[in-house]
Amino acid sequence: MPYPMTPLAHLTQTLQQNGLVKFLAHFVKEYPECHLKDLTMETMGPGRQVQIHGKTLINFGSDSFLGLDQDPRVQEALHEGIRKWGTHNGTSRAFASVEANIRAEEKLASWLGTEAVLIYPSVTLANLGAIPGLVGKPDLLVVDQHAHNSIQEGARIAKANGTRVLFFENCDPMGLSKTLEQAGKYRLAVVAIDGVYSMSGVIPPLKEINQVCLNRNAVLYVDDAHATAVLGTQGRGTVLDAVGNYDNTLVVGSLSKGFSCLGGFVGCTGEMKTLLKMRSNTYIFGGPVGPPYLEAICAVCDILTSGEYLLILENLRRNQRELVYGLKNLGLNVLGGETPIVSIVSGDETNTLKAGKMLFDQGYYVQSVIFPAVPYHSGVLRVQVNANHELAAVQGLVQAFAKVTRDIPFPDLEPARQAI
Ligand SMILES: Cc1ncc(COP(=O)(O)O)c(C=O)c1O
Repeated sequence: MPYPMTPLAHLTQTLQQNGLVKFLAHFVKEYPECHLKDLTMETMGPGRQVQIHGKTLINFGSDSFLGLDQDPRVQEALHEGIRKWGTHNGTSRAFASVEANIRAEEKLASWLGTEAVLIYPSVTLANLGAIPGLVGKPDLLVVDQHAHNSIQEGARIAKANGTRVLFFENCDPMGLSKTLEQAGKYRLAVVAIDGVYSMSGVIPPLKEINQVCLNRNAVLYVDDAHATAVLGTQGRGTVLDAVGNYDNTLVVGSLSKGFSCLGGFVGCTGEMKTLLKMRSNTYIFGGPVGPPYLEAICAVCDILTSGEYLLILENLRRNQRELVYGLKNLGLNVLGGETPIVSIVSGDETNTLKAGKMLFDQGYYVQSVIFPAVPYHSGVLRVQVNANHELAAVQGLVQAFAKVTRDIPFPDLEPARQAI
């Protein structure tokens, strides 16, 4: 062999020298005990009980905010879907869809209040397909600097295709206005933001941002993944309540979080749906959400549009209020609080990992979020409250945090808030 190692071994070694890989590997090595990533949940029980490494904990790391993953009607719809359609129809929707897909999209559109909805296999694939599909070479794509990774990746594809891509300061309408003004000439612009920033739970000023878009010939594209089913009237998300209509927005929602099913969607006009079907490579060249999940999505739509939704939501809000009140009482810097994502600023990577482990040892799993998911030294402990958490579990988590604060120095509010 003419080379000292095989090409695959060479590739492996090269990747091991990558800066980010070395950074992450450093923490795995340095803190093997408290590096709670890549975990396996061995069992799941009621009230979000899980077993990890044989230890029973309450899971505060699930985006299944309404607890509908445990709802018998949703589970039965999934079973019925298997009986009716099998596990998967195995074809790109560019060729053929099952009837459940059409029904699910109609139900989603009717619930959301848009003319149409197009389902993708995930929100990531919606963003990777729709964003580059919306813009061309003469256009401008402007992205909130903290927008979700899948928006940023969609922007990279758009850029590689020749679209100009600019960024603006997180949640800042004035910054957006300046960016659009300074951009000079463009045919049209698309501004891409999150409806809820998933690491901090912060909601952007949508009305103001949309007004800037209208003033500057820009369409607003909102990834509302974390608001779907949990914010806004009947869980329709942030956009309609804040802006009043969908005249200038494309709204993306998740079917895997509050919906407890699988997939993502774009809510739009019928005309735009037709265009997205032709312009989204992830829709054309990839497979769809499996039919059983489409049946489950229909069942969730029925729950969201029923009177029962408010009862489920009340449990969620009660848990949210209890958690935020308790954490703030401890003097912790709590980000968000309007949504079921509650982030506690923990600062550097070491503190964040250690604090997460101390909670784990007390029987509570929360996510220790460090760079690159958040800026360097701006770690957070991310708590996801669910409607099916027992109130006592939420109170127990607050008490566990109280113990952690005795050993871990949590940073001051303002610098930390600015960093996220
Ligand atoms: C704002 C946002 N967009 C997209 C995603 C990814 O969603 P999916 O798992 O459906 O790809 C997430 C996941 O947390 C998110 O927070």
